[in-house]
Amino acid sequence: MSLELGVLVSGNGSNLQAIIDAVQAGTLHANLRLVLSNRPGVRALERAEEANVPTLVLNHRDYDSREAFDAQVVRTLQDAGVQWVVLAGFMRVLTPVFLNAFEHRVLNIHPSLLPAFPGVDAQRQAFEYGVKWTGCTVHFVDQGVDSGPIITQAVVPVKSDDDLDTLRVRILEQEHRILVEALSLLAQDRVQLETSPSGRTITKITESES
Ligand code: GRF
Repeated sequence: MSLELGVLVSGNGSNLQAIIDAVQAGTLHANLRLVLSNRPGVRALERAEEANVPTLVLNHRDYDSREAFDAQVVRTLQDAGVQWVVLAGFMRVLTPVFLNAFEHRVLNIHPSLLPAFPGVDAQRQAFEYGVKWTGCTVHFVDQGVDSGPIITQAVVPVKSDDDLDTLRVRILEQEHRILVEALSLLAQDRVQLETSPSGRTITKITESES
């Protein structure tokens, strides 16, 4: 199947670019219906425009509450025919208004091996903790902070000559790869949800048919 995608951004948009490139290369079966930013003038919007993907800015500061902003984002995405939402560097916490409308249909890319180092500046948290391996995670968004069911992860070693910037770059390279990988799994209908013995909702990735 083809995924009808909406991508929410706030900044540079290199993860968005990875999706655009995979769609254009024909390796990811998806239609980019809309790129929506809560900030005007960001590089991510230019990337979308360069690829002829429709864009929209909804500035959260124009809304009285998080819920009112989320309700408008939901309406906008639904009107655009979006069925799956990717948070690609979107710097807003979503409320239940949003998550109930797109339950288990919102993906996030996080720059650590969750459940280690949730929240902001995860690469710095990991680096300053002194871990020797870190990485990145694509997961479904639930109502917690970076806590939803994990779809896929990549491991990145922390090298002895790394500084925070070199580590960030190597994690970002893997983010681009696994974000497209996760979307491909969804497009192939290979991501099932199940309940683990502890009662947590987790994913099960089914084998490829080929
Ligand atoms: C990435 O590190 C992502 O994991 C985090 O925000 C950053 C966004 O980068 N959530 P970009 O805008 O996709 O380049």
